[in-house]
Amino acid sequence: MVARVIPVEPFDLVIFGATGDLARRKILPGLFHRFRAGQMPSEAKIIGSARSEIGGAEFQTLVKAAIVEFVDETLRPADLLEEFLQRLDYVHIDAMGETGWDTLKKALRQDTIRTFYLSVSPSLFGAIAERLSTHGIATPESRIVVEKPFGHDLQSAQALNKALLRHFDEQQIYRIDHYLGKETVQNLMALRFANSLFEPLWNSTHIDHVQVTVAESIGVAGRGGYYDQSGAMRDMVQNHLMQLLCLIAMEPPSKFTPNAVRDEKVKVIEALEAVELSDIVRGQYRSGRDNGSYFDDVENPDSRTESYIAMKLAVGNWRWAGTPFYLRTGKHLRDRVSEIAVIFKDPPHNIFPNKMEGRKGNALIIRLQPDEGITLRTTIKEPGPGGMRLTEVSMDMSFADALGDDLTSQDAYERLIMDVIRGDQTLFMRGDEVEAAWAWADPLIAAWDEANQRPVPYDPGSSGPEEALMLMHKGGRRWRPIGD
Ligand code: BG6
Repeated sequence: MVARVIPVEPFDLVIFGATGDLARRKILPGLFHRFRAGQMPSEAKIIGSARSEIGGAEFQTLVKAAIVEFVDETLRPADLLEEFLQRLDYVHIDAMGETGWDTLKKALRQDTIRTFYLSVSPSLFGAIAERLSTHGIATPESRIVVEKPFGHDLQSAQALNKALLRHFDEQQIYRIDHYLGKETVQNLMALRFANSLFEPLWNSTHIDHVQVTVAESIGVAGRGGYYDQSGAMRDMVQNHLMQLLCLIAMEPPSKFTPNAVRDEKVKVIEALEAVELSDIVRGQYRSGRDNGSYFDDVENPDSRTESYIAMKLAVGNWRWAGTPFYLRTGKHLRDRVSEIAVIFKDPPHNIFPNKMEGRKGNALIIRLQPDEGITLRTTIKEPGPGGMRLTEVSMDMSFADALGDDLTSQDAYERLIMDVIRGDQTLFMRGDEVEAAWAWADPLIAAWDEANQRPVPYDPGSSGPEEALMLMHKGGRRWRPIGD
């Protein structure tokens, strides 16, 4: 199958922080891929901006180096790359001062969609939004994109929202959670709402529990300064895992429009019941040997920040009463695996007594990464004439096999940037949604801080702390293995 490409309107995209790591790794390579696919019209213009006092030619050299580093050689023929570089311009801007803004204004075209992508520290969001407005650069049709972290707690998130809303309307603000740009995450909505098969079973009558796992094999070395101030709760749960939970648990929106979808997601966050500290396990990878200790990676031997968290949540509404949601995420685990496992209840009556031993039951596994796909675990008869024996098999579907690598391997940023240009906010977090997620997370963080709680240790390369296994065992359940 070949990807259908619908070109977007001509645009002027200004990237603040254009020489930074995210721009080099994700934003600029993502734009190049869309250019390569023919989605970017010839009138598109990308203006890099940062504190560095470099010129347009030097910026092109930086971008070229980034694309050579992060885009496979076979996908970047020299002539195409040169053509892409011609779309680039650079304006040196002092975000906190007045330098460069008038130059930027002159570089932008009238009657062309203006998008301002703030790939900078959140402490600069307000200052940049203000200058875009006071210098008459932002128009009522302009869009502003902001990266995570969107706040450190409810209060700081509210302050960021206020600072942006002073100069932009909510319909102009695109808050990125890159998990929403992942193909399989969007597929969750297609799976649930474009099929009649699953939705009738999607409730506590039929679902025993749901497991959401986002396991990473890398540690936090290299970004310890940021990470130690955040931990797994702020870095992953409040945003990425919360978004996954919302898409699994939400009611069907009446239509696939930004506000209809986001209204339903907010309702899920608001329906979350208070979590007991005993239903949360916080861990820290530790090892006396060479394979890394959290303390060394963050250069803080007394850190109480978690690099792993597992928790049991309850969505208190009619659909989900009685079905727990287990979330876990961590660094330096056995493997890089992200998946959602929906575990169904046993049939109400067993007509095969003694034939079902060891059976795990029906499960729908949605693999987010790697090897994106869906597996449905079912029970069937074991073949052969020797009586009626039962066994379990998986109906396995890999998106790459079914649809082709090219369609499934796009990076989340490619999709998200094009959605901004198209003016589609469905895959971006609304202000109230981010605030609701912080309002949920804040009391939990405060509770473990108040209890002076230390995370429990786990071995790097393991499946996480033993205590997390117990969290499941208490409910008579088991985590799915992380990796093979
Ligand atoms: C980021 C977190 O938002 O997501 C990182 O700050 C994490 O700590 C990353 O590693 C995971 O993203 P992905 O796309 O690799 O699963």
